[in-house]
Amino acid sequence: MKQLRQRWPGLVLAAAMLGVAPGAFHQVLAAPQQSADNLVPRQRILFNDGWRFQLGDPDGNSAPYLYDIRPEVKKSADGKEADAMPEEAVRVARANTPLLRAWILPTGNAFIKDPSKRYTRPAQPPAVEAPYARLDFNDSAWRSVQLPHDWAIEGPFLTTGPYGGMGRLKTWGPAWYRKKLTLPAGDKGKSIFLDVDGAMSYASVWVNGQLAGGWPYGYNSFRINLTPYVKPGADNQIAIRLDNPAESARWYPGAGLYRNVWLTKTEPVHVGQWGVHVSTPKVSRESAQVAWQVTLDNDGSAAAEVDVTTQLYALDEQGRTTGNAVATVASPRTSVAAGASATLSGDATLANPRLWGPLPTQKPNRYTAVTTVRQGSRVVDRYTTPFGIRTIRWDGETGLSVNGEKIKIQGVNNHHDLGSLGAAFNVRAAERQLEILQEMGANAVRMSHNPPDPQLLELTDRMGMLVVDEVFDSWERKKTPLDFHLTFPDWHEQDLRAMLRRDRNHPSIVMWSVGNEVGEQYGGEAGAAIGKRLVQITREEDSSRPATNAMNWAKADMPLPAAMDVISLNYQGSGIRTLPGQFPAFHEKFPDKAILHTESASALSSRGEYQFPVPGVTSAAVRPGAGGDPKTQQVSAYELFAADFGSSADRSFASLDQNPYTAGEFVWTGWDYIGEPTPYYGARSSYSGIIDLAGFRKDRYYIYQSRWRPELPMVHILPHWTWPDRVGEVTPVHVFTSGDEAELFVNGKSQGRLKKAPYAYRLRWDYVVYEPGEISVVAYKDGKEWARSSVKTAGDAAALQASADRSAIDGDGRDLSFVSVRIVDKDGILSPRAKNRVRFTVEGTGELVSTDNGDPTSFESFQSPERAAFNGMVLAIIRAKPGADGAITVRASAEGLRGAVATIQARKQR
Ligand code: GAL
Repeated sequence: MKQLRQRWPGLVLAAAMLGVAPGAFHQVLAAPQQSADNLVPRQRILFNDGWRFQLGDPDGNSAPYLYDIRPEVKKSADGKEADAMPEEAVRVARANTPLLRAWILPTGNAFIKDPSKRYTRPAQPPAVEAPYARLDFNDSAWRSVQLPHDWAIEGPFLTTGPYGGMGRLKTWGPAWYRKKLTLPAGDKGKSIFLDVDGAMSYASVWVNGQLAGGWPYGYNSFRINLTPYVKPGADNQIAIRLDNPAESARWYPGAGLYRNVWLTKTEPVHVGQWGVHVSTPKVSRESAQVAWQVTLDNDGSAAAEVDVTTQLYALDEQGRTTGNAVATVASPRTSVAAGASATLSGDATLANPRLWGPLPTQKPNRYTAVTTVRQGSRVVDRYTTPFGIRTIRWDGETGLSVNGEKIKIQGVNNHHDLGSLGAAFNVRAAERQLEILQEMGANAVRMSHNPPDPQLLELTDRMGMLVVDEVFDSWERKKTPLDFHLTFPDWHEQDLRAMLRRDRNHPSIVMWSVGNEVGEQYGGEAGAAIGKRLVQITREEDSSRPATNAMNWAKADMPLPAAMDVISLNYQGSGIRTLPGQFPAFHEKFPDKAILHTESASALSSRGEYQFPVPGVTSAAVRPGAGGDPKTQQVSAYELFAADFGSSADRSFASLDQNPYTAGEFVWTGWDYIGEPTPYYGARSSYSGIIDLAGFRKDRYYIYQSRWRPELPMVHILPHWTWPDRVGEVTPVHVFTSGDEAELFVNGKSQGRLKKAPYAYRLRWDYVVYEPGEISVVAYKDGKEWARSSVKTAGDAAALQASADRSAIDGDGRDLSFVSVRIVDKDGILSPRAKNRVRFTVEGTGELVSTDNGDPTSFESFQSPERAAFNGMVLAIIRAKPGADGAITVRASAEGLRGAVATIQARKQR
């Protein structure tokens, strides 16, 4: 997927004039001819380059002002069990620090339904000094950065203190970003907006020294109307102050302007922010009714009469429009009063619609609605809205059906960081995550626990993955001292409506989640009342999808579950600790409601770390000497161990199979993430991923693949077979296969053929005695050979092997190649415990962005060109320089080993 780039303003302008969505970039080039009708004034310009950045406020003053009062943190929340009961909010007395809240709140007015509850901006500016916001402030000594930018990922790691939960990286404290905005005189009379896809967090946006607005929640996208503050024909100054609190998250939030920022220019009469809502009320294979609502804003001083035409086009796999419009509908002339908005609606019926559906059984076909707004004969706006046509049905007995086909959810939870790249969003890094998940057989992602970057939803649409889009991790009660509960009372409506309006046209989203394990579960009717209000908001913005909230504690007879359309259970579906699984109780109480395991497993492991002895259990909490080693802070990769409240994959599978009406599961988690390193809070990143932080597959990957891709012949053996210290010792061998039976051999000697028992998902030979050589396995399905695999004992480490996931990338300064390096013996066998230091150098048209090895305990800088391998593997992430055309040579070297080279071609953008 491409992004529009500010470096090629001509292209951007062409795209803007044609009103083509960023994803449809190529179409702009293919259709250069512009009739007068195509000269559309809307411009959407990527505003990512040329920012200046500085940590801290002037003179090191850490809090010259705040968004709002923050309670004093008396007790750190680090290391608290994830299922601990949230606490009541603390009331705080006002203090003397100037507060910006009254000037920021009006930014969200468009998302407050009741006009009497909207905020009026105070007549006077806030009484604060903000020298960094001034037009004449000299920022030439500040650092130049390009967005998306996560300043916290540079570390250094905090090796002491209660900072494991937030990832041992300092994300807190004020930070400033400044950028000049030079507007041509011709922009006079236009409406000019800054569209921020995400800013972490408590953003206040200053324009020419004046506070123009802001948005506290770091995960939402928001718009600042610059029009009253900027001068066309002059230099203007944008300054954004962010102010993450410490103790504000249970995972690594990232910090900074970590998503795209756009400059949008329109005529006074234009389609409003996220102003087109497309729905598909009636769908069959033969025909589909496509309906839309268009909200028009008139920022001008005179009423306007407008004609709106909507055209529907099919999109190809890359998101380019294909062929002629499949429908063209002119709406009756509409009047929009000065300074007001108007909404019009229309619909069309399409014959033989190409439906959107999840892979692998369906195809993610998409359409786009092109809305053209005219005043008289003049086109004043054109706006594109990609969408999909599909039906979804959630049912108490059959779970989820898409286009009439029952789809078991084989999903994962993911947090928003991208490993060593931090929270700064990168399309290719996210696409790689989804590709590796799809190869495992995953068909769904739960956005835990916040709205994602909008480009991630373009990926899930395009790649045919289902999504549960989630808005909050807390409501009024707190999980960490300074988390979202502080702003919930003022902002929940704006935050929720903003997510719904931004995301509701994405066909991949099949459900809204209004919360995760919120403290209000414990709050009886009062808690349920909040849940009901949030669900009501989802219905007002989108009647086509159900709403849920994920509950790890509320039981079937409590009020909160009754307020939800779909029952989402975290862990308690399989059963938490000694509590029995709750699926049957919920199914009995709510026979018509679908039940989903929104968080299953929370199984823990470190890739390639095997600990002995191996208990005969199928699922257990990590304990010293039984799954965990507090000294090394590593968790055994036999994939039997879980968080105290969790289960192994095996145990979760059994609970779903024993309750076949369940809609499926979202595993906690697909990928390791920074922060929340349960059970060892001295570490930097989680142990719960099926895939480690670097993107290397743990053994657990294959138990999911064996279940989720039953038609794929595969068999996977663990552990590795290089145990010089274990000769003659019992070394259990476990096998994951999509077959139903397997025979294990040690140096050619059969260890017996085993069949999967009912509700068992692995085959285990627990009494194998280690001898060097080779273990091999032959798997069978229905009595016939199905797949084979073997693992050999490695000799001394001799060489590096490098492989790039893509050997040709775009020379756009954003596209990435992920180069994996394995340490191998002279025969190319992985050295499974190798920890050699590997050094990367990059020549040619590319650069090293970061390195990682997937070790949760590693405190080496993510930007370091040299890094110790972890259990034989290490990763380098390479980016082509902007404008690159030609070869990038990545060399990996390690003392005493033969080095390796990966060559990547950077393709110039044409
Ligand atoms: C859940 C929680 C997740 C995460 C997980 C860790 O209780 O919803 O956010 O904390 O546990 O296993």
